[in-house]
Amino acid sequence: MRIPAAILALLLLPAVSLAGEEGCGVCHGAERLRHEQSVHRSGGLTCVSCHGGDPSAVESAEAAHAEAKGFLGRPSRAQSALFCGTCHSDVGRMRSFGLRTDVLEAYRSSHHGKAVLERDDPDAATCLDCHGSHDVARVMDPRSPAYRSRVPATCGRCHGDEAMMKRHGVEATAPRDFAGSVHGRRLAEGEPGVPNCASCHDAHAAAPPGSGEVASVCGACHRDALEMFRRSPHFAVSLRGEMKQCVTCHGNHAVGLPDYDLFDRPPPKDADPNRGTGCVSCHDIADAGDRGGVVAAALGKGFRETDAKLRDAKARVDDVASRGFFVEDERESLAQARRELVQAVPLAHTADLPAIQLALRRSHSFVDEALVGVEGKIREERDRRILGSFGALVLFVIAGFLALRRRRPAAGTA
Ligand code: HEC
Ligand code: HEC
Ligand code: HEC
Ligand code: HEC
Ligand code: HEC
Ligand code: HEC
Ligand code: HEC
Ligand code: HEC
Ligand code: HEC
Repeated sequence: MRIPAAILALLLLPAVSLAGEEGCGVCHGAERLRHEQSVHRSGGLTCVSCHGGDPSAVESAEAAHAEAKGFLGRPSRAQSALFCGTCHSDVGRMRSFGLRTDVLEAYRSSHHGKAVLERDDPDAATCLDCHGSHDVARVMDPRSPAYRSRVPATCGRCHGDEAMMKRHGVEATAPRDFAGSVHGRRLAEGEPGVPNCASCHDAHAAAPPGSGEVASVCGACHRDALEMFRRSPHFAVSLRGEMKQCVTCHGNHAVGLPDYDLFDRPPPKDADPNRGTGCVSCHDIADAGDRGGVVAAALGKGFRETDAKLRDAKARVDDVASRGFFVEDERESLAQARRELVQAVPLAHTADLPAIQLALRRSHSFVDEALVGVEGKIREERDRRILGSFGALVLFVIAGFLALRRRRPAAGTA
């Protein structure tokens, strides 16, 4: 009797020494390994923090899983959101780690939280879908599914799933449209400051922004555009719910590089409204009675003319430079003209025709300055050449004259 007991004690020794902390890991090796790598291990969490049970009872599952010790078993999706969220709302607990404490509150208000907590929905996202369970990592850690550049794939796993989205009456186009957008491409290239899905929707409060909120979502980064849009007649229109602010013209997920076609080209008939349209979708550019249409047509024409003028002038300056002229001043004027044009572009959001035309005229005047400069240099060169040829001619005549004079007396003596 004594010997087997001693052997048993020996066998149990490594397990018992673990018991205070991770006794559960004796039987659950896989979970223990993942937990050891997670941020929660460094935060002092053990299996019991989330599951309850008796970590010192390593001899049998029944003892370890005792209900009397508060064992919860495998939590349901709703339960896990509540226990992750409750701890993460605990200001006392979170303060020393500098973590926000509003995630559960935000999650409850989201379409995800409502579906999971109120309707026990099996599809909608919980904390686990975006952070993992045993392998939770810091969101700044590239291993986390919530890491900046991994967010589109994390959301996309569900939001690109046609069948799942159909069940909920949500379009499944967001991940694909976003991946092809200016934002998506720049994010994939690792550019800082570019939005992912969570920047516009908030990871925890996830909901589509309402038509009156879009501008502030986009405007968090595009401040100039926001301020100018607020000054335009369209701001009031959008507050009446007749325009989805930025999204009306630029689209939400498929934001592309804007061009002058936004002013005066009608979108194709079967165009997807989520991709944005332009002035023509609301104004008639052929109707002199539609002030918006008149302005849109004038802006399209004005921007294209300025751009074309700049391009022609640049070609002219390059050509003159290739002939060996020094054109640094003219290049500087063109750069200034380009800057004026670039600064005129966001003014489009004010729809203030006189202000934009003024900016375009400033660009024109710098182009003119450059052209006057190069033409002046060419003229000077030509004058110099003419003068040069004239000088050469005079010299030639004098030389001829002298030669004749020298030959004449020679002939006389002969
Ligand atoms: C002696 C081995 C043993 C120990 C110790 C043990 N478990 Fe288990 N555990 C099992 C086995 C076997 C199962 C699968 C069968 C079952 O559901 O009971 C299981 C299942 C579970 C499940 C899934 C339950 C479900 O409803 O699917 C959880 C959660 C769990 N254990 C947590 C713990 C925690 C926490 C501890 C420590 C307090 C612990 N276990 C200690 C053997 C053990
Ligand atoms: C931060 C909270 C947390 C901690 C800490 C934690 N778990 Fe879990 N565990 C969960 C959640 C949430 C689930 C449900 C996962 C799911 O549904 O995908 C789970 C599921 C399980 C399951 C069931 C797995 C299955 O596939 O059915 C076992 C077993 C388990 N945990 C054991 C452990 C053990 C052992 C530890 C300690 C090493 C531990 N857990 C630490 C939150 C935690
Ligand atoms: C739909 C995906 C998603 C869901 C659901 C989700 N999160 Fe997050 N979470 C993220 C993303 C993305 C970030 C990083 C960006 C941010 O902070 O908004 C983040 C950040 C965090 C952070 C770090 C906050 C900080 O202070 O830096 C914590 C903690 C967190 N989440 C906990 C939770 C908890 C708890 C739940 C469940 C109640 C949850 N999350 C649900 C995606 C999600
Ligand atoms: C018992 C309290 C507790 C529970 C339950 C809990 N956490 Fe945590 N969590 C913490 C603490 C403490 C930290 C900070 C650890 C550190 O920074 O070292 C943390 C850190 C995190 C972080 C990293 C934040 C960052 O970027 O720095 C995320 C994400 C997170 N938890 C998500 C979850 C999820 C998801 C669950 C549920 C599966 C969960 N937590 C359950 C206490 C808890
Ligand atoms: C695990 C699957 C899953 C993940 C991951 C997920 N979602 Fe969802 N999401 C859903 C489901 C399902 C719904 C529909 C819920 C409902 O029925 O109201 C939804 C709803 C939404 C809605 C509201 C749509 C509407 O018109 O009602 C938004 C916005 C949203 N999710 C954004 C996100 C973002 C952003 C992420 C990533 C940070 C994300 N989701 C991650 C499954 C997911
Ligand atoms: C640049 C900001 C921005 C980014 C980035 C963004 N969204 Fe959106 N999203 C919006 C706006 C604005 C709307 C509402 C558009 C509307 O009302 O027409 C929207 C709508 C949605 C909807 C609701 C669609 C419906 O059918 O009801 C879902 C779901 C969604 N986005 C998911 C995502 C996912 C997933 C990602 C990342 C792949 C993402 N969004 C990235 C701005 C953004
Ligand atoms: C988190 C910050 C952020 C948010 C939010 C954001 N953007 Fe952007 N946006 C950027 C960055 C960064 C670029 C890339 C600038 C570059 O590389 O030229 C960009 C590029 C663009 C461009 C192309 C402009 C150009 O000429 O490069 C447009 C148009 C645009 N965003 C519109 C929007 C709209 C509309 C929304 C809201 C639905 C939005 N953005 C939300 C940061 C943001
Ligand atoms: C009524 C249509 C319309 C609305 C609404 C609109 N834009 Fe624009 N946006 C344009 C046009 C037109 C251009 C200029 C295109 C060009 O000249 O190349 C532009 C250009 C831009 C650019 C590029 C600017 C640059 O300097 O290159 C950004 C960024 C942008 N918009 C963001 C926004 C944001 C953010 C909002 C909401 C606050 C918004 N837009 C609302 C039509 C619109
Ligand atoms: C979603 C529809 C919509 C789009 C797109 C749109 N507008 Fe408008 N616009 C309106 C409405 C509605 C009014 C207000 C008309 C009124 O109050 O009489 C308006 C007013 C204007 C006005 C002031 C008209 C006046 O009577 O003083 C101008 C200028 C204007 N828009 C120019 C533009 C330009 C330029 C674009 C493209 C960059 C554009 N709009 C795109 C709907 C739109």
